[in-house]
This record gives sequence, structure tokens and C-alpha cells, in this order.
Amino acid sequence: MKHVDVAVVPAAGLGTRMRPATRAIPKALLPVVDRPAVQHVAEEAVRAGVSEVVFVVDLGVGSLIRQHFTNGEPLEGLEDLEIRIAVQEEPHGLGHAVLTAREVIGDRPFFCLLADNIVRPGADVLPALVAASDGGSVVSLREVGPHMLDRYGVAVPGDRRGAELEVIGAVEKPGIEHAPSNLGLVGRYLFTSDILDALAGLEPGHGGEIQLTDAIDSVARQGKCRGVVGEHDLLDIGIPLGLLEAAVVLGLARPEFRDDFITFLRSLEGLR
Ligand code: UTP
Repeated sequence: MKHVDVAVVPAAGLGTRMRPATRAIPKALLPVVDRPAVQHVAEEAVRAGVSEVVFVVDLGVGSLIRQHFTNGEPLEGLEDLEIRIAVQEEPHGLGHAVLTAREVIGDRPFFCLLADNIVRPGADVLPALVAASDGGSVVSLREVGPHMLDRYGVAVPGDRRGAELEVIGAVEKPGIEHAPSNLGLVGRYLFTSDILDALAGLEPGHGGEIQLTDAIDSVARQGKCRGVVGEHDLLDIGIPLGLLEAAVVLGLARPEFRDDFITFLRSLEGLR
């Protein structure tokens, strides 16, 4: 695949694990250092060559997200980014959220970036997904520990060469008992419109939700899915400890206050 110019960012989840922060403010607008999660994600998409981002949000949140990107002076680096909003009226699951963007996406290939996962500085994965595509979908994978196998979708691996492999199936949150591998799906995807066709035909799966993993399983079984195993995990701001870690990691990457921040961290009692 040569170029992907549009990204879907599902951001309509309930964010219950971040209550009470998310009672009035959507998770995707929680700040990490000095900008909301959605801006970190949009910046990552733009670094990969995207010129249009479709945020999937629940009723009422679209205008807040649009305001963030359009109020006042254009955001540095995002001046030419087109912001689109798709409304998921009920939170029927991540797969349902992606399907909500179908009208805007049409039959274009697209990236999908989960709004509550932020990449570590210097660890972008989207270019590797494009490089690995033979015209079909590519998912970002990471080797996860046994206790994480009930928190991720998990890939059924086919032939592997280095970091790239054929994906021949996928299972949502299988747990250690049923996991087909230790390769978790980590919130970054390159999809062709096959995934939208698969999603449109799905019945609710795990947890009664329309599961993106089930659609990945469907295209994988047709031999149309590859995977790239990355070394770094994403920062999960959907849980309190993850939000704290994200603030520290992204804060340490800011040269203008890195030294002062390190001095502060070193001054904390009990850290040595
Ligand atoms: P999560 O399951 O992590 O998000 O979904 P959640 O539902 O907000 O979290 P909790 O469990 O209540 O704390 C992963 C991504 O999919 C989006 C979320 O916004 C998040 O970016 N999502 C999930 C939707 O857009 N719609 C849905 O119906 C479900």
C-alpha cells in the first residue's frame, strides 16, 4: 500500500474506568501534559501522512472536539488537518464505532487509532503497518504477558518473518486458557474496506458488543490480514495508572521542562 490519507479515531466509549474524571469530560479530552488525548492521537496520524481524521463520538461531544481543533489560532503542525465527526448514538462496542464512520470513509483504506492509547515518543507504528501491507489490512501487535490475555484481542499467528506475520484469525479477550498466542492487538490498525463489510455482517460478540476483533478474525480467515509485532506498548490513558504513566513519559520527552521535571521526580520521597 502506498499512502493512507484518512484515520478513524473511536472515542465514544463510556470511560467508566476513569470515573469520576469522565462524568462530564469525555476520556478523549482528558489532558496529558498540555494537550488532550485526541490531539496526541491526531498528531500521530498527521506524522503518518494523514490529512483527514474522523472522530467517532457520542452525542454532544462532537462540537467539543471540533472546538478544540478549530478555536483560535490553528494548532501547530495540524493546520491542514480536516476534522470530521461521526456520531455513535449508543456505545455498542468498538466494532460498531468503526462501522459508524463508514459513510465518511467509503471504500478508502484507513488507519484506526484508539483515542485512549497514546504512542510513546519516537515509537510510531503506523508507517510499519503501511510497509507491511500487501494491499490488505495490517494490525499492530505486541507480545503481552499471560495476565493481559483477558484484556486484549489476541491474534492467531500464521507464517512469521521477523516482526511481520500472516494473521489467520483473532479472538477477543480469550484469557490464558484459550489464547491462541501471546500476540495482543494494541490499538493501531490499517484497514481496507473489507473490515467494514465484515463489521456490517456481525452479530454482537464478547460482552454483547459488536467486536472489532471479530471482524479482524473474519478478514484474517480470508487471508487478508497481516500483523507487525512492535517492541513498545502504548500508553493506556483509559485507566488511572496509565494516565499517570503517560504524563510522566510524555513530560520527560519535553526538552523545555525535562530537566526541572527530573529534578522534581528525584526529590520525591521514597523513589530511591
Ligand atoms: P474501551 O473499552 O477501552 O473504552 O474501548 P471504554 O468503553 O470507554 O472504557 P471503559 O471500559 O468504560 O473504562 C476502546 C476504544 O474504543 C472506543 C473507546 O472510546 C476507546 O477509544 N469505543 C468503545 C467506542 O468508540 N465506542 C464503543 O461503543 C466502545
